[in-house]
Amino acid sequence: MDHQTTPLLTALRRHAAEEPVQFHIPGHKKGRGADPEFRAFVGDNVLSIDLINIAPLDDLHQPAGVIREAEALAADAFGADDTLFSVQGTTGAIMTMIMAACSPGDKIILPRNAHKSILSAVIFAGALPVWVDPAKDRRLGIEHGVTMDSIREAVSLHPDAKAVLIINPTYYGTSIDLRQAVEFIHSRGLLALVDEAHGTLLHCHERLPMSAMQAGADMAASSVHKLGGSLTQSSVLNVKGGRVDIRRVRSFMSMLTTTSTSYILLASLDAARRQLALNGRALAEETIRLAVETRRQINEIPGLYCFGDEICEQPGVFHYDPTKLCIHLELGITGFAAEQWLRETHNIEVELSDLTNLLCLVTLGDTKRETGLLIQALRHLSDTFFRPEAGSIAPNGASSPPVPGAVSLPAAGQFAMPPREAFYALSESVELLGSCGRTAAEFLYVYPPGIPIVMPGQTITAEALDYIVKHLEAGLPVKGPEDPAVQRLRVVAAEEACLV
Ligand SMILES: Cc1ncc(COP(=O)(O)O)c(C=O)c1O
Repeated sequence: MDHQTTPLLTALRRHAAEEPVQFHIPGHKKGRGADPEFRAFVGDNVLSIDLINIAPLDDLHQPAGVIREAEALAADAFGADDTLFSVQGTTGAIMTMIMAACSPGDKIILPRNAHKSILSAVIFAGALPVWVDPAKDRRLGIEHGVTMDSIREAVSLHPDAKAVLIINPTYYGTSIDLRQAVEFIHSRGLLALVDEAHGTLLHCHERLPMSAMQAGADMAASSVHKLGGSLTQSSVLNVKGGRVDIRRVRSFMSMLTTTSTSYILLASLDAARRQLALNGRALAEETIRLAVETRRQINEIPGLYCFGDEICEQPGVFHYDPTKLCIHLELGITGFAAEQWLRETHNIEVELSDLTNLLCLVTLGDTKRETGLLIQALRHLSDTFFRPEAGSIAPNGASSPPVPGAVSLPAAGQFAMPPREAFYALSESVELLGSCGRTAAEFLYVYPPGIPIVMPGQTITAEALDYIVKHLEAGLPVKGPEDPAVQRLRVVAAEEACLV
């Protein structure tokens, strides 16, 4: 296939250049009706291709023209049989994937560290989650992948499950032996679904973990916008192997997608595919080289540790993505405090922080200049907070909250009722701390990374409440409940729970 071409971007540019008189939405009409400051700032080029599904520009809901051609090129680039563009992020692609795989009442085997979009999909599909705990890294306070033994056990206990979902790689960058897992899952007649939100580059370089399509998975949702160079909210759903009905997958994608699809986002996917197909390997090579060198320098800074090859000796880790720098702090401050300090002192924004780590992503957009600034700032952070003789206590004048230390994601726990039933059940609002033992009717998660701590249907445990309290005390962004202050939580009303 000719990856030099960009069918959709080219059609949009040609259409805009012909300057048709537009009597259709969007009402800003090439920017003339837009707010002048916004128009001047973003520029007329962008506004001229903010178009809609008129005949020459195809329709994402039933692509047969330039969008279909762009998707076919993307499928070739990602090693898929079919690729569907998503303008609703990987969240939209994950919902499509799970709803196409599971009918109401079907079981799906999920890792406990699944993103909230997976749980939303389970609720919409009416599927029944079977939880598998990932391997925990107690030193770093993070979760890795689900071990093969855990996958085998879950499948043998639930041979009637429809699918197993795997995260490749995790937010922090570790992967399991995906090919082995997919082969096993297929040998038991189940579908292998992959959340590849953080894995768009995997297909480009052999130094990175194997991609879902290389491993033979049936479907994989990938955030091209996160690491592949397209615009925020643009993702793909890759499909392979004939175990799923592509027409059904397309109907779910259409049901879940706005009818006013953004052609700016779609064009950015077309262009990102061209760049990845033509130069992805070279760009990934340079990114990996930069990240490996940055990691080496971080590991020379007192009080900081950034895992490398040795992480593959941990359970649940077969490979890792070196472009993700998970910086473990032994400085007497939380990751969140370090994130704020970097923002205020060095104008540096990280991808995420947790109680004991910072996560920094080195991508196609970085150069030595940015990584140099990060190293400089981290050295300053260490100079300010590292106190070996005092067990890493903050020095005079540098205020930092007490560090609670790494806490593990609580086990998924018991489900008193299926998530969908709990979500739609009669519910009542109770004090968060008084909710232990009750059945949750809403989500609680820290975002990022967006892994539900408590989810509808789950019996709320003391362990889960302790995890939430520690995160709230450290100032981390706990979200999900209707009460934005997270003082109260919706639980299934007592009378409804009695009926279950
Ligand atoms: C593991 C994982 N899966 C899925 C998603 C959802 O991706 P998106 O933001 O593109 O909807 C995220 C987002 O952070 C994620 O971290």
